[in-house]
Amino acid sequence: MPLSFEGRVVLVTGAGGGLGREYALAFAERGAAVVVNDLGADTKGGGKSSAAADKVVEEIRAKGGKAVANYDSVEDGEKLIQTALDAFGRIDIVVNNAGILRDRSFARTSDLDWDLIQRIHLRGSFLVTRAAWNHMKNQKFGRIIMTASAAGIYGNFGQANYSAAKLGMLGLSNTLAVEGRKYNICCNTIAPVAGSRLTETVMPPDLVASLKPEYVAPLVLWLCHEQCQENGGLFEVGAGWIGKLRWERSQGRIVRQKNKPMTPEAVQAEWDKICDFTNATKPASVQESLQSVVSVLSEVESEGEVGANPTAAPASM
Ligand code: NAI
Repeated sequence: MPLSFEGRVVLVTGAGGGLGREYALAFAERGAAVVVNDLGADTKGGGKSSAAADKVVEEIRAKGGKAVANYDSVEDGEKLIQTALDAFGRIDIVVNNAGILRDRSFARTSDLDWDLIQRIHLRGSFLVTRAAWNHMKNQKFGRIIMTASAAGIYGNFGQANYSAAKLGMLGLSNTLAVEGRKYNICCNTIAPVAGSRLTETVMPPDLVASLKPEYVAPLVLWLCHEQCQENGGLFEVGAGWIGKLRWERSQGRIVRQKNKPMTPEAVQAEWDKICDFTNATKPASVQESLQSVVSVLSEVESEGEVGANPTAAPASM
């Protein structure tokens, strides 16, 4: 059965071009009413124009779809959600996609380079999502996408500001997944790769042309569908490939003995084992994480020996 979005209202931020435009077109094609938000800024966050959003709205309407434009910055989160409520009476899905770059080596990163990136990516996603949250809670349905980046997951030269904001969004998503679960609000994060005006400065032209946004959009649509229960996930996606990421934790070592001070030398002595990922565990919640740490207290108390392994406790698996 085709996945339909009939009756759903979707806000896509930064939908005037690149990936956001593709999401907006794809949702509309499957019956959703779409708010096409775009400030019409340049890639560094300067300027303002209604043209980008208007063009996508026209494209959607020309194909018989439902769409309205919104030209506010994501920093005015309430206004974006108000546009959805005014035009379509509800908000079901928020795709936090708007973004800019202000790449600089770390030493040259100015206060403005830092602040603008945090404001648009992290704070903007917070403000837009918070404005939608209670509507989603009350209707017991919501799907939220955060857009992170490989630069945040792995680090990338010249992107300290952007990396920090992008993984900040993953932290935000993780907690929204926890808080939203009982209201059928799912929040997931993607780290996409696609040719766009953001990447045309760093990728060769043939790669920009080949890595089409349409090879990313189907993941976003699936994660936002009512049939999809995925929550708190992180996905890398591009070129038609999708992979899921998760945290891995080494078995680790206890480097403390009962009634003795814990020393950096003991850390040094066990370093290889601390960093050895053989039989690594995959904790997936704060509870799981804490449980194994707390269990160390009694292990040290009862055994008092170096070498016991906190994450080996069956309860922590
Ligand atoms: P893009 O530049 O084509 O699209 C971003 C859109 O956001 C633009 O249309 C821009 O006008 C809009 N925008 C900027 N500031 C805004 C604001 N304050 N309020 C509302 N709209 C605003 O770039 P692209 O590549 O489509 O990027 C989309 C998202 O994906 C961004 O968050 C980007 O950081 C992220 N991303 C993209 C990657 C790629 O390979 N294209 C890689 C990793 C992450």
